[in-house]
Amino acid sequence: MQSFSRIGIVGAGLMGSGIAQVAAQAGYQVVLRDTSTDALENALAAITKSQARFVTKNIISSDDADAARSRISTTTELADFAGSQLVVEAVYERLDVKRQVFAELGGIVDATTILATNTTAIPITQIASSVANPERVVGTHFFSPVPMMKLCELVRGFHTSDETLARARDFAESVGKTCIVVERDVAGFVTSRLLVALLNEAVAIVESGVASASDVDIACQLGFGHTMGPLATLDLTGLDVILHAAENIYGATRDEKFAPPELLARMVAAGQLGRKTGHGFYEYGERR
Ligand SMILES: NC(=O)c1ccc[n+]([C@@H]2O[C@H](COP(=O)([O-])OP(=O)(O)OC[C@H]3O[C@@H](n4cnc5c(N)ncnc54)[C@H](O)[C@@H]3O)[C@@H](O)[C@H]2O)c1
Repeated sequence: MQSFSRIGIVGAGLMGSGIAQVAAQAGYQVVLRDTSTDALENALAAITKSQARFVTKNIISSDDADAARSRISTTTELADFAGSQLVVEAVYERLDVKRQVFAELGGIVDATTILATNTTAIPITQIASSVANPERVVGTHFFSPVPMMKLCELVRGFHTSDETLARARDFAESVGKTCIVVERDVAGFVTSRLLVALLNEAVAIVESGVASASDVDIACQLGFGHTMGPLATLDLTGLDVILHAAENIYGATRDEKFAPPELLARMVAAGQLGRKTGHGFYEYGERR
């Protein structure tokens, strides 16, 4: 049984639009908010395009896709979240922006409304301290692309209550996700720590001439069953994004395994960011 009927989503970018899509497909009434109507139109277009792929593959019917879209309303006004039992924030990965959104939300929604953040790595406690009752703030870290990826990393902040965590789990499971729980909002949570540790070591192996990038990737794919090798993952995600994540986790922990390898920093400085620049650990020809 769904414990929410009306969901608010702040930020209609890649993640916010994906969360809106899966929530609407699960039967929720969704209010999607961004700062411009352009962003909202782009989000609706992205949802329509994504749904068309699911319809083509007979995963959902065209009627169900239409019905889900009709459950999504868009707004540029945060005040339209009044009456939402859950608000999921998916704005830029910046503490100041997220704190501002939460502080404004605190004055609009009911005291019992669950406030969730899709942050990749910012400690929930730092975001939650911008609202009066931080026990209802929780991390719901969905993965991209949201309609495809099955994981939701639930993150407990210092004050997050058991009830808030349970209700966040109910929501994530009701939209088809499997949850893991991060009991302390340490830098990088669980998934970014694992990812950074693996990618750092993969780069270090290449840097020291122990093995080539393609052999490291083949080792992980054929030896461990990974769908994609770590260097190909770096190229896809963006070397700059992973460098930033590694610097943040290393900065918070001072644990050497998270310290970005010199080669990674040098490639970023040289503008070799992976697929988006056409050059990374592999060559992609034109930009993609
Ligand atoms: N991109 C990924 O693969 C990924 C994966 C997991 C988690 N995340 C996290 O999800 C969050 C969103 O990431 P994204 O990739 O969707 O970003 P994005 O840049 O695609 O979208 C962010 C959206 O937030 C909007 N926005 C900014 N300030 C706002 C405000 N005050 N009110 C309403 N809207 C506002 C922007 O206009 C933009 O449309 C970030 O915290 C990110 O770290 C991203």
